[in-house]
Amino acid sequence: YRNLRVALLGAGSVGAQVVSLLLKHGDELAQRSGAGLELVGVAVRDIDAPRSAEIPKHLLTTDAEGLIVGADIVIELIGGLEPARSYILQALNSGADVITANKALLATHGPELFDAAEQVGAQLYYEAAVAAAIPIIRPLRDSLAGDRIRRIMGIVNGTTNFILDRMDTAGESLETALKTATELGYAEADPTADIEGYDAAQKAAILASLAFHTTVPIGKVYREGITSVTLEQVDAARKAGYVVKLLAIAERLVDKETGTEGVSARVYPALVPRTHPLATVHAAKNAVFIEAEAAGDLMFYGAGAGGIETASAVLGDLVSAARRHVIGGPGLAESTDANLPILPISSVTTRY
Ligand code: NDP
Ligand code: HSE
Repeated sequence: YRNLRVALLGAGSVGAQVVSLLLKHGDELAQRSGAGLELVGVAVRDIDAPRSAEIPKHLLTTDAEGLIVGADIVIELIGGLEPARSYILQALNSGADVITANKALLATHGPELFDAAEQVGAQLYYEAAVAAAIPIIRPLRDSLAGDRIRRIMGIVNGTTNFILDRMDTAGESLETALKTATELGYAEADPTADIEGYDAAQKAAILASLAFHTTVPIGKVYREGITSVTLEQVDAARKAGYVVKLLAIAERLVDKETGTEGVSARVYPALVPRTHPLATVHAAKNAVFIEAEAAGDLMFYGAGAGGIETASAVLGDLVSAARRHVIGGPGLAESTDANLPILPISSVTTRY
């Protein structure tokens, strides 16, 4: 087994759950990866801050730059643009693979980060950056690469979906529902990013770039948040057979003047007919509805926010990154007992 040094930056809602799951299931993940996964440290701002999961004190440090030195894989879960951008560049330039859930950073500095990774042959993984636990990055980038996508419509912000759902089902105010969403760890450090639609716009830019094989700059995404949505409007929508959802829409359009194809990306509170599958997405769940030319309609559904749910996607990226480090692949574990009636699941699945 090769041992891989894993450095984690951030131990908030998501980071603390990554540590917890890694300490609990590290051996299993290592077996699945074909490499040892040694968590060498966890960088935070305040070592004594309360955490949602227990982290061994000796792992905590405030020296993020020092922690990155010598790491094979760096997981960035700090959020925001700086110092996250500088740390990721430092990691990539040192040849480490990087995993991030930071959609704000990717939507703003994605091309710079992907270029930096390419130059040194490193990889940047970001499955958790859009719709948290839902696998959507790999399906768009890999599974649907042979198709032509017409349109994507997504509920990609858990906080605003939670708020709109509470307004619709319980008549709660936006402020009260936002308070609960924040307590549950769904909201961004500055929840303005959620309720004003910035977070959904960042995700729309990432989804549109992947789906339409281009770069959609965040500044080109039309954005409206939910702060002007009233309980009266939600009520009137319900009586008319609709539900208000903050939708991120990206679609292929033809420019009427030039006849060339282009992409439009936008985020706004929309009236969704109660019969549409997106109307059934409640609480902090997300869903991404894809209309593809050959595949037809597809819907990806699941947890769009939350510490442990997001940690699932981060750890999936960690296993992928670790597998890339293992020359010749992870190999199949052999049973020592010919009569063993149980298949060695983790080793069998690595071949798919
Ligand atoms: P939190 O605000 O809960 O945690 C941020 C962590 O980063 C804290 O541990 C904080 O340290 C640490 N940190 C902040 N600045 C620094 C710094 N300069 N140096 C070292 N450590 C620092 O964020 P989340 O866990 O909620 O989110 C992390 C990332 O994941 C963000 O990019 C977010 O957008 C993304 N994301 C979050 C989801 C969620 O449901 N929460 C879902 C999907 C993606 P300290 O604790 O000491 O203050
Ligand atoms: N604040 C984000 C949301 C976290 O509510 O969707 C997940 O990206």
